[in-house]
Amino acid sequence: MTTDDLLDRHRAVLPSWMPLYYDEPIEIVSGSGRRVTDAAGRSYLDFFGGVLTNMLGYDIAEVREAVERQLRTGVVHTSTLYLIREQVELAEKIARLSGIPDARVFFTNSGTEANEAALLVATNYRRSHQILAVRNSYHGRSYATMGITGHRGWSASALNPLQVSWLHSGDRLRGLLSRLDDDAHIDAAVEDLREVLATQSAGDVACLIAEPIQGVGGFTHAPDGLLGAWKKVLDESGILLISDEVQTGWGRTGEHFWGYQAHDVTPDLLTFAKGVGNGFALAGVVGRADVLNSVQAISFSTFGGNPISTAAGSAVLDYLLEHDLQANAARVGAILRDGLRAAAQRSAIVAEVRGKGLMLGVEFVQPGSREPDPAITARVFEECRRAGLLVGKGGLYGNVIRMGPPLTLTEEEAREGLGILVDAIGAAS
Ligand SMILES: Cc1ncc(COP(=O)(O)O)c(C=O)c1O
Repeated sequence: MTTDDLLDRHRAVLPSWMPLYYDEPIEIVSGSGRRVTDAAGRSYLDFFGGVLTNMLGYDIAEVREAVERQLRTGVVHTSTLYLIREQVELAEKIARLSGIPDARVFFTNSGTEANEAALLVATNYRRSHQILAVRNSYHGRSYATMGITGHRGWSASALNPLQVSWLHSGDRLRGLLSRLDDDAHIDAAVEDLREVLATQSAGDVACLIAEPIQGVGGFTHAPDGLLGAWKKVLDESGILLISDEVQTGWGRTGEHFWGYQAHDVTPDLLTFAKGVGNGFALAGVVGRADVLNSVQAISFSTFGGNPISTAAGSAVLDYLLEHDLQANAARVGAILRDGLRAAAQRSAIVAEVRGKGLMLGVEFVQPGSREPDPAITARVFEECRRAGLLVGKGGLYGNVIRMGPPLTLTEEEAREGLGILVDAIGAAS
């Protein structure tokens, strides 16, 4: 079976709106550590980790053993109608790590469902379906989460069960707030929030949902402290804050365990997904007991938090903490960020290198301007693959290269990938 056959079969049977990377899509057939091999036998260093999801990397013995242990019991699934030891244990760990007092955890299978659950909780608790969301955000593919997604390319339907008002994003290159320094940006964003509340809501807004660093949006982020400054305004009328930590959680930003911690605030609810299962379908929402318990009907997820995914999740968390991967993300991420910033200074096509820890984006523009250049971005992207490095793409205009490698990335691997990226940027300049 060649990849070509598989591509034809893929196109014949899967929907056209599910994108495939690369002019010649690849099939990844094996992986170890931070490296994968495709069906043609080519090896790649993986700086995207299946969209920030293979958080520990590939073929991690501790995770495999935890899953195999569970498989050997003969129980893959019981449903949440019965006690699930692995689920309770993982919920205890996540509640403790969340920073949310008296926390409860509800498990789902995807980030979309986690945000959907957070919205369910917030709208029930506040008896309101008015939501504040942020431009350039991505929160999922259900009607409600598409409804709070501020990104045209990822909003496949205008049907929306919520009434949404929009706040400015933290984009530092474009938009009304982009040219302001950090303090002025926060002041203006707070003023904007007050104005939106006064002019666009009918009072009693349920919540504000925000990503501390916007993932699909191209790793844009507002100055540290903005979520905290917003929360002070929200607290005046009891509006909840939801931090979507689907990409920023578990120490990826290096400086903190959760993205929200850069903002001097504790959210009422946080959502997680992606990395915690290291590939097993595991996601959820954490919230204060009074908030999370406020749903007045049965709501359950058949597969959410099943014995296999929660056994994996527990092993992932133990590994992450035992190896202090947050510190590694800070150390190794700095090598990448500094190297990319140095390369950016020599290049007229890079407008910005941004992000934190092992969550870094490079934004490409037409030389010497702020005009997004998705064509140059695609050239860098393809060139990286040719040279053996997998990276991601994103941004409102498809002009951002995104990197979210496994948090186990070594300094040597960071330098190797950096070299490929710098050469690819040089070749495209
Ligand atoms: C910030 C954020 N929230 C939610 C989601 C949706 O997660 P899922 O694709 O698991 O439904 C994503 C996915 O990329 C995301 O980046």
